[in-house]
Amino acid sequence: MKRTLVATALALGVVTTAALGAAGTAAAATVTVACSAVGIEYRLCREAAEAWAAATGNEVSLIQTPSLANERLAVFQQLLGAESDEIDVFQIDVIWPGLLGRHFIDLEPHLEPADLAAHFPAMVENNRVDGELKALPWFGDVGLLYARQDLLERHGFAMPDTWAELEAAAAAIVEAERVAGNERMQGFVFQAKAYEGLTCNALEWLVSFGGGRILADDGTVDLANPGAVAALETAAGWIGGIAPTGVLNYAEEEARGVFQAGHAVFMRNWPYAWALANGEDSPVRGKVAVARLPRGSEAGQNASALGGGGLAVSRYSRHPELAVDLVRHLTGAEEQARRAKEGAFNPTRPALYEDKALLEARPFLARLQPMLEDAVPRPARLTGDKYARLSTAFWNAVHDTLSGRGSAADNLAAAKQRLDRLHRDGQW
Ligand code: GLC
Repeated sequence: MKRTLVATALALGVVTTAALGAAGTAAAATVTVACSAVGIEYRLCREAAEAWAAATGNEVSLIQTPSLANERLAVFQQLLGAESDEIDVFQIDVIWPGLLGRHFIDLEPHLEPADLAAHFPAMVENNRVDGELKALPWFGDVGLLYARQDLLERHGFAMPDTWAELEAAAAAIVEAERVAGNERMQGFVFQAKAYEGLTCNALEWLVSFGGGRILADDGTVDLANPGAVAALETAAGWIGGIAPTGVLNYAEEEARGVFQAGHAVFMRNWPYAWALANGEDSPVRGKVAVARLPRGSEAGQNASALGGGGLAVSRYSRHPELAVDLVRHLTGAEEQARRAKEGAFNPTRPALYEDKALLEARPFLARLQPMLEDAVPRPARLTGDKYARLSTAFWNAVHDTLSGRGSAADNLAAAKQRLDRLHRDGQW
């Protein structure tokens, strides 16, 4: 029965890799890992898990998961809710400890204090639920503005620092490029599909206009304010103008596809897109610059949403000790350095930002550390297991506004009303 659960939930391939080295020990077992599979994440995860299998004489089995964060969450909730023992190690999003934590073991008793002290304290803290450590940090994500440096130069524009500057540069460059025969050129691509990625994009717009962070520090809903309205009205003005209407259905990979093919001046995306845009087969290799996302108004600031992931061990695993060992390997310094080099995944270990060889190979990393430090978290800790409902109400209000269904003010007011039913005086 249970075997069919994972297959039904995922309807995707499972790859099992036999141990290559040191095989045959009595304790050999198969450890199953569910990693995210955006860009080259799956390959990196598989290679590292296989290296661990070869070194320890075990086997690993890799599960491919849906590429939308919230769809991945729904699958994990289904599997863990059924107490399935099919997956031992879960890659979890930074916003999930409160949603899924009760299904994971406390990792702390299995670790040396030094294992933990080597990570950014705030990232470790984010994985604690009721005092238990539910995951080890694996990488940090920040929203970035990508630009075609060659096009900015050709048309005499600087990297924009405000949305108004981005709009002006995008419109002028698109017009000139289309006249020159680049008919598919678009101004700005980002993630505006109705899903978790839109919550990240829209949170950045809100903060960039001084429109709050969805919740105030005391947990009350801060959505129906003039900054938030101005932010959504500005973004709605991009659709069908500097941004193709298709962005309403774009997640990370759709935006990257357009930008990497050379068909967009600007893109909002996470750091992983840097490694791929500069990959050997990328048409825009060497032509891309990154910067902080633009500001909306004097009251606002350049804001990046904080993302990223950690690794957790299921309470229902039949091999918790081996699973913890694999998690330690995957989150270890060597593997995080490899992921930073190959995939531009930001390490969660401060020491790696001082590693000269790594910085030489990936100068990009040094620029990201300060952004990571002041990135804007989504209100997941305050809302715990109600975060998914909060995020869904928010992204739907944003998506409706971008699609021309209702005004920003009305949609935000309606979302606030809906959310006000989920908390009492800021207690969720
Ligand atoms: C990235 C981030 C994650 C976020 C997701 C949204 O994977 O790391 O935190 O939830 O994008 O699409």
